[in-house]
Amino acid sequence: MSLNSLAEIPPYVFYELDARRNRQRAAGKSLIDVGIGSPDGPIPDVVIEAMQRTAADRGLSGYPEFRAHPLFRQAVAGYLHNRFGVSVDAGSELLALAGSKEGIAELILSHTNPGDVVLIPEVYYPVYARATSLAAAQPVFVPFLPDGRLDLEAVAPGDLARARVMIVNYPGNPTTATITLDDYAHLVDFAARHDILLISDLAYSELSYDGYVVPSVLQVPGASRVAVEMHTCSKSFNMAGVRIAFVAGKREAIAQLDAYRSNIGYGVSTMAQMAGTAAFTHHEAIVPPIVAEYRARRDALVAAMQAGGWDVQAPKATMYLWLPVPGGYDDWGWVDALMEGPGVVVTPGIAFGEAGRGRFRVSLVQPADVLTKAAAAITSIAAAAPSS
Ligand SMILES: Cc1ncc(COP(=O)(O)O)c(C=O)c1O
Repeated sequence: MSLNSLAEIPPYVFYELDARRNRQRAAGKSLIDVGIGSPDGPIPDVVIEAMQRTAADRGLSGYPEFRAHPLFRQAVAGYLHNRFGVSVDAGSELLALAGSKEGIAELILSHTNPGDVVLIPEVYYPVYARATSLAAAQPVFVPFLPDGRLDLEAVAPGDLARARVMIVNYPGNPTTATITLDDYAHLVDFAARHDILLISDLAYSELSYDGYVVPSVLQVPGASRVAVEMHTCSKSFNMAGVRIAFVAGKREAIAQLDAYRSNIGYGVSTMAQMAGTAAFTHHEAIVPPIVAEYRARRDALVAAMQAGGWDVQAPKATMYLWLPVPGGYDDWGWVDALMEGPGVVVTPGIAFGEAGRGRFRVSLVQPADVLTKAAAAITSIAAAAPSS
């Protein structure tokens, strides 16, 4: 890695979005922000209590253990078993992380050499490609099939031969695409045949609706020989600011990540680990009301978009709508028209790679009545688009 590779990475689109939003705010504009996917709900009480207890505990004031506190490991292993029927060895197949974004970056940095290939879905959460570039490895984008699966046949043999890591993200941000266990089995088989580390980014494991239950890649028999999975408390438990996540699966990959991390840090804040311990221990009580709130928001937003004449399907999972930019606008033109006009902040599709161009993302991070207003603004501005 070098300052050159840092300089070659284009500015983070969310930075640019923040700058434009802040300029509007400074000019006195009142905004409805459905841009970034930062949950607006409260941290669960049981989690706050755990953090308070930890802060006051003299026995927990020293450096944390490198991999994870035993209570965190136990809670995570219990959650994986209870929620997915997955058994992991809490000593060797788990590691606490200060958020899955950092964890994904560290996995890429610890598993690639310059010139290696990382296979990334063509529409992707930005850190996949950015960490790959920081490692001086090469991102190769895998196209989606119409049903949301990845078109693995489209990867060129030369790229496949150099591929060390592949990342998948179901339910997807921003695509909202979902996956079946059979499709995961296919991915596991592909990764095993080509000797690739498969990283499943499961950031939205609990945010699903209408009876759809999100699977884990680790449910596939033998998956932990080739795959690791990233889980986070950020979305499912309204804990994005706490920064607690974990990775589970292939023990050699966990050991390599641990070795990498031990050179640059001291493990994850014990307070954050105890917060995560409480969340995973009490997931069955915490998650349903959070999901019910997102479902109500999703239904209100979809209904309001449909009332405005848009053909919008309700996503089965995540906290997003992934919509086409109306004719007459390019991505930033559309974002600016919404921000400067009715004051609605959305995320341009190019934040998620070139293949995201021509779409935009709306996050369900406002109450239902505010989302209804945002939808009315979006559909009326679109109706007045330059080309229509
Ligand atoms: C797909 C995906 N992965 C990872 C993250 C980052 O999660 P964390 O807060 O655990 O770093 C996000 C956050 O938006 C995400 O959408």
